[in-house]
Amino acid sequence: MTLKPPSPLCWRGDHLEIIDQTRLPGELVYLQLHTLEEVVEAIKNLRVRGAPAIGIAAAFGLYLGIRESRAATREAFLQELEEKIQLLTSTRPTAVNLFWALDRIKNRARVWGEDPPGLKELILREAQAIFQEEEDRCRKIGEEGAALLEGVRAVLTYCNAGTLATARYGTALAPIYFLAERGRLLRVFVCETRPLLQGVRLTAWELSQAGIPVTLITDNMAPTVMARGWVEAVIVGADRIVANGDTANKIGTYGLAILAREHGLSFYVAAPTSSFDLTLEEGHQIPIEERDPREVTHLGGVALAPQGVEVFNPAFDVTPHRYITAFITEKGPIYPPFSQNIKARLLRERS
Ligand code: MRU
Repeated sequence: MTLKPPSPLCWRGDHLEIIDQTRLPGELVYLQLHTLEEVVEAIKNLRVRGAPAIGIAAAFGLYLGIRESRAATREAFLQELEEKIQLLTSTRPTAVNLFWALDRIKNRARVWGEDPPGLKELILREAQAIFQEEEDRCRKIGEEGAALLEGVRAVLTYCNAGTLATARYGTALAPIYFLAERGRLLRVFVCETRPLLQGVRLTAWELSQAGIPVTLITDNMAPTVMARGWVEAVIVGADRIVANGDTANKIGTYGLAILAREHGLSFYVAAPTSSFDLTLEEGHQIPIEERDPREVTHLGGVALAPQGVEVFNPAFDVTPHRYITAFITEKGPIYPPFSQNIKARLLRERS
């Protein structure tokens, strides 16, 4: 695929470069992260964001933290590794990709028979492998999703599940890029995505950069767009999908899923297998991040709300599996009944 929006992350040999997504679309600013603490700050403050991208950033952050280790024994090294992992997992609780990437490195480090210098090298190689595999997964999601959306002319998406949220291509946006490359430009209705406006700032930006027709709407316009018959499907990403198919994604996704059902529209969740968490059975078990009330009371630094007003600011919600038409994964689409089919697909392919 030649259509390539810029990747939000790049390993520069001795440090991680990221696009500071808090500055988009006004400025395209690249940050050079040399330490674990800088990566932690970037994840917490959404400079790098989106489930797969924070998993990748965390993997490199772990290497940046552990490369300075002076541990003389494997045991001391693994203990230090655990401490760095805890720092990274304290950043954002909902997207499972972060935990998945760090668990993968930890589990492999335990079985690699190397001493600390060798372990450091292997951890870097594992972070690079995770990066490459996530890019490959998103490319495959693009191909699978493009086949599924064949014939669809307009879709609605939410938040940002594009290149900026992944290694490249995105999840929900990947099929759109693939169809665009084949000369089949879909119109994409993009919800603004309050409170942090990922739709306005990021999705509208990256699709426009790629020359894909975008219509931006505020979140409360989605029902009208659906009622007028302007979209044929909804496609979103995911932060964590549990065993029965319940799915955590950006706050507001749940409402869109109900609206899609009411209007007879397909509701697709596009996600790599690194976003599935089979250790949890049902959506209510997913930890939901709550963020600073200022994200709701202020816009661009300007206070909108009366001082001291009580605020509820969950960053994600959980869409019950019954509203989901299919998951689009790199291993193909998964249809209901999800309790059976998710496990069957993931476990069969992992073994
Ligand atoms: O708070 P954010 O911006 O990290 O939330 C991102 C989302 O909810 C995305 O839809 C999700 O991570 C999927 S990204 C491919």
